[in-house]
Amino acid sequence: MIKSVKILTNSLSVKFKDGTLENYPNIWLRDHAKDEKNWDRRSNQRKTNTASLDLDIKIKQVKLKNEGQNVEILWPDSISAVTYSSKYLFKHVLKNNNKQFKLSLWKKHQIKEDIFLSYQDIIKDIGFKIFLKKIYKFGFCVINNCETKLEAVEIIANKIGYVRQSIFGGLWEFESNQDMADSAYTQEELKPHTDATYSYDAPGLQLLLCCDYKAKGGESILVDGFKIAQTIKKKDKELFNLLSSIQVPGKYTGDGVILEAKRPIFKLDNNELIQVSFNNYDRTEFRLNELQTHRFYEAIKKFDNLVNKSEFQWRHILKPGQLLIFNNWRILHGRGSFFGKRKMAGCYINMEDFVSACRVNGIN
Ligand SMILES: [Fe+2]
Repeated sequence: MIKSVKILTNSLSVKFKDGTLENYPNIWLRDHAKDEKNWDRRSNQRKTNTASLDLDIKIKQVKLKNEGQNVEILWPDSISAVTYSSKYLFKHVLKNNNKQFKLSLWKKHQIKEDIFLSYQDIIKDIGFKIFLKKIYKFGFCVINNCETKLEAVEIIANKIGYVRQSIFGGLWEFESNQDMADSAYTQEELKPHTDATYSYDAPGLQLLLCCDYKAKGGESILVDGFKIAQTIKKKDKELFNLLSSIQVPGKYTGDGVILEAKRPIFKLDNNELIQVSFNNYDRTEFRLNELQTHRFYEAIKKFDNLVNKSEFQWRHILKPGQLLIFNNWRILHGRGSFFGKRKMAGCYINMEDFVSACRVNGIN
C-alpha cells in the first residue's frame, strides 16, 4: 500500500506504508503504462512504441486512489490517466528481494522424511503445489508409489512442463550396460556431478524412476551445490571468486554429435548464484596461464573434497516405484557402485518450464 507520492523533476517518488521509499523514472513509468492504449491484454504485450516516447516526459497529474491501493498518472501524451497498482510498483522496487519463498540450503542431516511424497498426492492440485515447493526449496524430492513404467515419468513431467528432447531421446530407460558411451551406464561409482555441462542450456530438472532393483548398493547421492558454494564463499573468498570466474568447458562426442559449452562452476548473475555446473567426466581441454592453471587444479581439488564429504551427501537407495526429481542447476548427483540388476527410467525438463510452473503456482 502506498502512503504518499511526490512528483520530482524526472521521476515519481513513492512512499509505501511499510516505510519503503522508491523513485520511479518517468520514462520507465510511461513505458510500463498498462491501459488499453498501451497494452494488449489478450496477448500481454506492449503496444507502446518505446522509441517514440519523450525521454524527458513529465507527469501532468498524479492521484492516490483506494486508500493507496493504486496511483493514477496523467501523461501529457494521453487523454485518460493510467493506473498503476501499489502491488505492481512494490514488486519493482529496485533493491527489493521479492522472492516469496526462500531456498533451504542443506547438509545431509537437514533432510527429513518429508522429502518423500506420494504419487497419489502430487497428481492432485494441492499436492502438486507442495511437490513444486519442495523442489524449489530443497532442490529435490522423492515420489513414492509410482508405477514402474515410462508412462509414470511422462505423466509427472507433463504436469510440470514437457519432456525435453536431447541426444538421449526424450523419455529413456536404462540398465547397467558396459557398451554404452556415457559413464552413467557403468556399475562403477559415479561421483557427484551435474548433467550436460556441454549444453548451452543444461537440463533444469532430471527425473529418475527406479523400475527394478535386484542389486546391492547403487544408492543415489545428492549434494546441494548451492550449500557448497555458500560454504566456500564464507571460508575462502578467493576460491569462490576463482570458481565463479573461470569458464570451464564440457564436451560430448558421440551419437553423431559434438556438443560443447562452457561456464563457471558457480555461475552468477548480478552476484547471485544461479547455477552450479560441474562434471569432471565431461570437462574438455582448455588452457590458462601457468599460475591460473595451478590455481584451477587446486580449486578443483578443494571443491571435489567438499562435495565428497559425507556431511554434504544425502544418500538413498531408490526402490522400485520411487522417482527422484532434482534441480540439475543446483544439485550435484552421483550413484554408489552396485552389483546386480538395476533398471531406471527418466527424462529431463527444461529449467524455464520448471520456473514457469513455479510462477503459475505462486512459488518464486
Ligand atoms: Fe548424471
